[in-house]
Amino acid sequence: TRIFVPADMAARSLGSDEVAEAVSRESAERGLNLRLTRNGSRGMMFLEPLVEIERDGIRYGFGEMEASDIPGLFDDPDNHPKALGPVDELDWMKRQTRLTYCRCGVIDPLDLSEYEDHGGLAGLREALGREPQAIVDEVKASGLRGRGGAGFPTGIKWQTVLDTDGQQKYIVCNADEGDSGTFADRILMEGDPFCLIEGMAIAGLAVGATKGYIYLRSEYPDAIRVTGEAIAIAERNSVLGQNILGSGKSFHLELRVGAGAYVCGEETSLLNSLEGKRGVVRAKPPLPAIEGFMGRPTVVNNAISLAAVPFILAEGGEAYHAHGIGRSRGTIPLQIAGNVRYGGLFEAAFGMSLGEIVNDIGGGTASGRPVRAVQVGGPLGAYFPPDLFDTPFGYEDFSSKSGLIGHAGLVVFDDSVDMSHMARFAMEFCAIESCGKCTPCRIGAVRGVETIDRIRDGDAGAMSLLEDLCETMRAGSLCALGGFTPYPVMSALNHFPEDFLPTPAREAAE
Ligand code: NAI
Ligand code: SF4
Repeated sequence: TRIFVPADMAARSLGSDEVAEAVSRESAERGLNLRLTRNGSRGMMFLEPLVEIERDGIRYGFGEMEASDIPGLFDDPDNHPKALGPVDELDWMKRQTRLTYCRCGVIDPLDLSEYEDHGGLAGLREALGREPQAIVDEVKASGLRGRGGAGFPTGIKWQTVLDTDGQQKYIVCNADEGDSGTFADRILMEGDPFCLIEGMAIAGLAVGATKGYIYLRSEYPDAIRVTGEAIAIAERNSVLGQNILGSGKSFHLELRVGAGAYVCGEETSLLNSLEGKRGVVRAKPPLPAIEGFMGRPTVVNNAISLAAVPFILAEGGEAYHAHGIGRSRGTIPLQIAGNVRYGGLFEAAFGMSLGEIVNDIGGGTASGRPVRAVQVGGPLGAYFPPDLFDTPFGYEDFSSKSGLIGHAGLVVFDDSVDMSHMARFAMEFCAIESCGKCTPCRIGAVRGVETIDRIRDGDAGAMSLLEDLCETMRAGSLCALGGFTPYPVMSALNHFPEDFLPTPAREAAE
């Protein structure tokens, strides 16, 4: 019998280490020959720590386990009060389209042979047999777009790097997952790090880059450890190195840890940080694809864009393109967080409506009060009210409603939220995290906080000033931090104007 207890950071914060210890203790006391695997998370955070027992090839789940539940699990698993039945039959699992996360929570994250048994390395083997242009064409055919948030077509970015001459080219993975309510990069790196490594090696073969870096945030110690170990294992087994799988082609990978600045998730300040400089945004052009790391042609892709690539090479671009809507093809790992009943990671084809995601998959608020707003796309994303819940999840669908899907994080709020406070928070966040390079953001965000305070104090004339300020920041900022802060601010103002009335008027209205 094999038993799985996640070592994912969220599961650990809910006590999975104690649960694993109890499993080892109980098994030793009973003289059983059990195989304990510390897997990644299946993404059902509301069930963590989720223990699974594998019998006859079926994985049976036990949710929200505590160490004290373990003796009972050994006595009579079938009648355990926390038994959930087969995990793959749970509604949350059955309704997903798991292309990128198909192994996450399923395998031992650091067992390379198990990775291969579950379809791993098939994409890399396919890529090794192709010319660079044919790899790029496959990615173009998939319709994959940047999962960091901007949604630029990955294949076209790779084409630019392939077409640019350079002695040395680089692949840089942006795993500086700074958006509030997002954890897709973390779950993947902790649960299936070889998938990211394989995607980066394929990217290297596609554009002619022999060196790659994963830029990972310091707030993710477990992902740093697991990914670092996975790189070492991949090197020892020739998945990385001088002679990839005996092909004579090479790709080397290094892990670099950021120091905690939100703006270092912006690709050019990330490159500066990687070069050992201050994390300040660079003007574009030149694009990193032309002059990136050390001034060389560089692919900078989000971790999830790169992790989607092994499937695309293994199964073909068409198989990926078959999912989704409009120009939003394939799948997206939705990260459902905030005041929500069922929080976690849900990989779905594009096209599900926002309401279905929040109310059906997420089960509404955890507090049981009505949903009032959902912020989609991190701290720079717009707040959506329930009247926009019919919006399908897709890049263009969200931008047509003055929003963005960003890195696909959704943070749910109930009716106790004060939206003028949230608008103020967005400006404050921008003021704190601003790199200082351009004036609309550096000065504008500070003035933005003051202006919202004036509005909250009853100065109605400050409303048009705030609108002007947002327009200046949107049009005049050098990067998305200053340029997108108007999204949360203006969406709060437009959809929830009643929250911007001065406090006495609001109290009277209530
Ligand atoms: P952007 O639109 O300037 O660029 C998108 C990407 O396409 C960049 O990598 C750019 O270099 C590349 N590109 C553009 N034209 C190209 C060409 N002709 N050839 C090759 N490459 C080309 O957007 P940006 O500033 O990179 O990202 C903004 C997004 O980041 C926002 O939408 C926001 O949602 C997201 N974001 C994500 C965060 C996270 O934690 N994942 C945090 C903060 C923001
Ligand atoms: Fe720096 Fe803000 Fe300007 Fe971006 S918008 S370059 S973070 S000052």
